[in-house]
Amino acid sequence: MVWKQQWLWWKRGIIYQIYPRSFQDSNDDGCGDLNGILQQLDYLEWLGVHALWISPIFPSPMKDFGYDIADYTAIHPLFGTMDDFDRLLAETHRRGMKLLLDLVSNHSSDQHPWFIESASSRDNPKRDWYLWADPAPDGGPPNNWVSEFAGSAWQWHEATGQYYYHAFLAEQPDLNWRNPAVHEAIHAAMRFWLDKGVDGFRVDVMWHMIKDEHLRHNPPNPDYDPATMSPYEEFLPVFSTDQPEVHDVVRGMRRVIDEYDERLLIGEIYLPIEHLISYYGSEQDEAHLPFNFQLIGAPWDAAHIRSVIDTYEASLPPDGWPNWVLGNHDKSRLGTRVGSPQARVAAMLLLTLRGTPTLYYGDEIGMRDVDVPPEQRVDPRELNCPGRGLGRDMARSPMQWDASDNAGFSRARPWLPLSPDYRECNVASERSDPRSLPNLYRRLIGLRRQEPALAIGDYEPLPVRPPLLGYIRQHGDQALIVMLNFSNGAHEFILDLNCVPTEILISTHDPAARPASRQLELRPNEGVIVRLQKPPHHPCLAHPVDPNG
Ligand code: NOJ
Repeated sequence: MVWKQQWLWWKRGIIYQIYPRSFQDSNDDGCGDLNGILQQLDYLEWLGVHALWISPIFPSPMKDFGYDIADYTAIHPLFGTMDDFDRLLAETHRRGMKLLLDLVSNHSSDQHPWFIESASSRDNPKRDWYLWADPAPDGGPPNNWVSEFAGSAWQWHEATGQYYYHAFLAEQPDLNWRNPAVHEAIHAAMRFWLDKGVDGFRVDVMWHMIKDEHLRHNPPNPDYDPATMSPYEEFLPVFSTDQPEVHDVVRGMRRVIDEYDERLLIGEIYLPIEHLISYYGSEQDEAHLPFNFQLIGAPWDAAHIRSVIDTYEASLPPDGWPNWVLGNHDKSRLGTRVGSPQARVAAMLLLTLRGTPTLYYGDEIGMRDVDVPPEQRVDPRELNCPGRGLGRDMARSPMQWDASDNAGFSRARPWLPLSPDYRECNVASERSDPRSLPNLYRRLIGLRRQEPALAIGDYEPLPVRPPLLGYIRQHGDQALIVMLNFSNGAHEFILDLNCVPTEILISTHDPAARPASRQLELRPNEGVIVRLQKPPHHPCLAHPVDPNG
C-alpha cells in the first residue's frame, strides 16, 4: 500500500499550467484554443511534464477571462467544441499525460441560468443558490466586505430590493455553499468531466467558498497602506474567507473525486502555512494538494527561501504530500521576479524540492512580464483600480513559439501584446541550444522522473550559510545533494568525509554531467545536483573554503 501511494502519478508528476487564451491559436482569431494545445503536445511531451492544467475553457461572458462561468459542462466556442476537447483528452492520455480542469465553484457568471433564475424573484426556488441580503439600516450594503477587485463586495439588485455578494466582479456572484442543492449541482458538473476521463481539478479560490453565517463585519487591517496595498487589503477577511465550514465543502468534493481511480483535487488557497495545511483535512480527506504559493511570494534570497522550505516542511501533516508553485496567471512572471541568471536556480529549486512542482507556461523559456500599454489593458482587476500595479495582463502574454510574426502564436493580432523579446526568446531557437533554459528544465524533469530520490525521497537541509542553500534528497541507497548559489559571486566549499560525491549530474551552467570531488565550486548563480556514493551516516556538513587558505 505504501509502495502504491508513492507511485501515485500526482506525487511523481510535474504539473504544467496552460492559460488557454495565450498558448496557441489554431484558427487565426488571435486567441489560443484547444486545437492549439493539441498541436503543441509534442513540445510538452519533449519537455517531459506529466499533467496539464488548463485554466477555464467553459462558456463565459469573459468578464474575468473565463473565471466567470455560464455553463459548467460545455466548451466556449472561442476554445473549440466538445469534440475538440474529447480529442485533446484522448491524445493527452495516449501520450501518457494527464489533463486537469479548473473548477470555478465559488462563483458563477451572472449570465449563468442559475443566477438569472435566482435574480428573477425573491421566491424563485433558486433564490437561495446565491448570497442575497437585505440592506443595512442606512440602506447601504449589509456589511463592510470588499471585493478582491476593489469596491464593496455587495451589489444592489433593484428589481428584488436586496444586495447579492460577489467576492470578485459584480458579474461573478458567489454561490451559496450552505445550500445542499449547490453541492449537488457542482458535484454533477464534476462527475460530467470525471466520467469523460478528466484526471482532476484545480478548485478556484477554495478558501473563499463559505462565508460567515451572520455576515459579521471584517476587522480593519492595522497595517493597511493605501499607497502600496490593494483596496481589498483594507480589512482582514476574517469573516468572508477561510470559515470552519469550508472543510465540509471540500470533503464533499473529495468524496466525488474518490468515486474514481487516482483523480486529483488541488485547491487554490492563499493563506499562511498554518491555515493552508488544514485543507489536507484532518483525515487526509480534503485536497490532495492545497497549492503552496510560498515561493511566489518570498523575497528571492537564500535565507528567506530556506525559512519558507523549513517552515512548510515542518508544518505538513504526516501524510500531507508537499507541492510547490513557481508562477501562475495572477502573478508577475518568474523571470521578472528573480531575473534571468536566478531563473535557472529557481528551476533547479522547483524541480528538486520534495513535493509536486507546478510550472506556468512560458516560464520554462524565460518569458518575462510584458509592459502592456494602458489602452490595451483588459484585466478587470486593473480596470477597476487603474494605475496601482494590480493588473495581471503582464503575465498572460502569448506563448513565444518561434521568431516569425506574432511569435508563431497566431496569424492574427494576438488578444494581448507579445513580449518584444520574442525573436530571441522562443521555443524554436532555445530548443536547439543545449545550454538554454528549456533544455535545463527538460534535463531537470528527466532526472526527477528517473531518480526516486528526487521524486519521492526524503528531504534534509544542509547546514550551509546564505547565499548558498543546500539539501539532501535520499531514497533507499541513493542520495543526491542539491546546492544552489543565490548570489552573483563564486563560492567554494568542501563536503566532510562522510559525503563522497561521484558526479555532478546537472549544473545550471553546463549541458553535460561531470565528475565531482569533495571540494566543489559554485560559480555565480549556479546550482548543482551532485550524486553521492552512498547516503551519509550522519548529517552531511559543507564547509566554506577560506579564500586566504
Ligand atoms: C483566482 C483566479 O486564479 C483568478 O484569475 C480569478 O480572477 C479569480 N480566482 C476569480 O475567479
